[in-house]
Amino acid sequence: EADLYFLYRGVYVPKLIHTEASLDYFQNFTFRPQDVLIVTYPKSGTTWMQEVVPLIVSGGDPASVETIPNWDRVPWLEEVRASTLNLEGRPSPRMLTTHFHYSMMPPSFFKAKPKVIYVMRNPKDVFTSIFHYSKMASFLVTPDSQSEFLQKFLDGKVIFGSWFDHVSGWLNADDKDRIMYISYEEMIMDLKESVARISQFLEKTLDDEVISKIADRCLFKNMKQNNMSNYSAVPPEVMDPTKSQFLRKGISGDWKNQLTAAEADHFDAVYRDKIKDVQHKFVWD
Ligand code: PPS
Repeated sequence: EADLYFLYRGVYVPKLIHTEASLDYFQNFTFRPQDVLIVTYPKSGTTWMQEVVPLIVSGGDPASVETIPNWDRVPWLEEVRASTLNLEGRPSPRMLTTHFHYSMMPPSFFKAKPKVIYVMRNPKDVFTSIFHYSKMASFLVTPDSQSEFLQKFLDGKVIFGSWFDHVSGWLNADDKDRIMYISYEEMIMDLKESVARISQFLEKTLDDEVISKIADRCLFKNMKQNNMSNYSAVPPEVMDPTKSQFLRKGISGDWKNQLTAAEADHFDAVYRDKIKDVQHKFVWD
């Protein structure tokens, strides 16, 4: 871990993507009330939402999702790129992303109160997705074995720390009326309804036909063809497409193909214990 990651406020972040300077930029970032911030634990639906939100904001115009890579279209505030994108000069509503915990948000976030879309996903599928991603991404520690990586995941000794802390922190946030909670599984079950709900939250009135078009564009099979969203622009030495795909399977429940029965039982036992004080009905429970 020491070679590839460093600890920032208790969570590992990959050195290739974050520096002390980029984290300072994040801490000093000035939010606007009109900003729309996508918040996720990794592998929970970030890229998907980076497609949905710009399409809603543009009223269905695909120009930005066809020409701007997702990491510039809805940039991560904690990454080194953020300070090079002149976010201060972008018109409202700015669309932004973070993987950070609620407790790590900068002072301006609590003052300006931007809109937040918090996407969560069944942690067993998050684990499965990260496990495959770790094999292809050069900036991530390659797991020695599945069981070793599972224990690290459950202990929060992976990038962006503990899934449990991330989810419980954001679910227990103050000012919940400016946060929309949605799950990957709800988007899988009914993408059109999810798009409609997000557009309501963003106070963007769209015709039913436009909502259908947006949902269709954001289907896994269509996003996989979009070179501005499928990470094909990343050099193979950074993301090796022969080892795994960024848009890998795009389903819910793939953990059943990944975890042994004993691993799933262990996961469930840790999950029940860690989540017992969280007042939320998760769709996967
Ligand atoms: S990251 O690295 O945190 O930005 O990754 P993130 O985008 O959050 O998660 C990647 C997983 O999301 C899946 N994905 C989708 N699923 C369904 N439909 C669409 N349109 C879609 N877009 C991305 C992607 O395939 C990864 O999940 P797995 O299970 O690995 O396939």
